[in-house]
Amino acid sequence: MSGLRSPIALIKHVRVENLSVSYPGGAKALDSISLELEPGIYVLVGPNGAGKTTLLDVLAGIRVPSKGRVVLNDTTSFYGLDERTRASIRRETIAYMLQEDIFIEYLNVIENIMLFRNIINIPTETVNDLMMKLGIYGLRNKPVTELSGGEKKKVNFIRSYIKALTSSLVLLDEPTSNLDWESTETVRELIRELNTGERIIVIATHDIKLLELGDSIVELRAGKLEKITKKHNI
Ligand SMILES: Nc1ncnc2c1ncn2[C@@H]1O[C@H](COP(=O)(O)OP(=O)(O)OP(=O)(O)O)[C@@H](O)[C@H]1O
Ligand SMILES: [Mg+2]
Repeated sequence: MSGLRSPIALIKHVRVENLSVSYPGGAKALDSISLELEPGIYVLVGPNGAGKTTLLDVLAGIRVPSKGRVVLNDTTSFYGLDERTRASIRRETIAYMLQEDIFIEYLNVIENIMLFRNIINIPTETVNDLMMKLGIYGLRNKPVTELSGGEKKKVNFIRSYIKALTSSLVLLDEPTSNLDWESTETVRELIRELNTGERIIVIATHDIKLLELGDSIVELRAGKLEKITKKHNI
């Protein structure tokens, strides 16, 4: 794990307090959410528009809440920090797989994957191994513009996964949408391997096959936290 310069080397605890996010025009994407996150896997579910991506954006430090706080390790108000410090925490210890597969179009597959790497070096073999496991090793020199939907999702996942290896907060937004069944299984196993007891992992998904990964299932509906179910109650 990293954390060389920022005030938070490892994120071990996140407390979301009365968090609201309003978008311009007044729509409330999140409405007074309170939630505590500790190492383990949280699966975030809820209908389209429920606020899942918005919550991940706030946890990632890229969307300033309209109200409420995100407190890291009981000591630091994430949005009380200046943008530069927040950026260094993001860079050093947060991995965020965005829902959209956003790439630099003039770079090929492997160049796009390496772009997101953390400041800690990940061996090339690890990256190759991930590409082989997901069946896209042969595509490593291909322009990203020529990939299928599922292939793009795999590149997006691997790019985030290698960052996750050196991060303590891992946020994955619909990591298996567009993937075939076998690849979904592979991604599920890879996420399971990340769950070492040191990382907080939050997965937003509509994929029923990912539910079993959750130590907790967090349900959002219309911006409100509807229910949290812990594994021993599932
Ligand atoms: N940039 C924006 N401007 C205005 N409203 C937005 C913006 N982004 C999202 N919203 C609104 O905020 C609400 C929550 O959106 P969000 O993307 O968080 O939902 P979601 O649960 O991730 O949905 P999905 O399952 O479709 O990914 C929605 O009503 C959406 O229309
Ligand atoms: Mg979303």
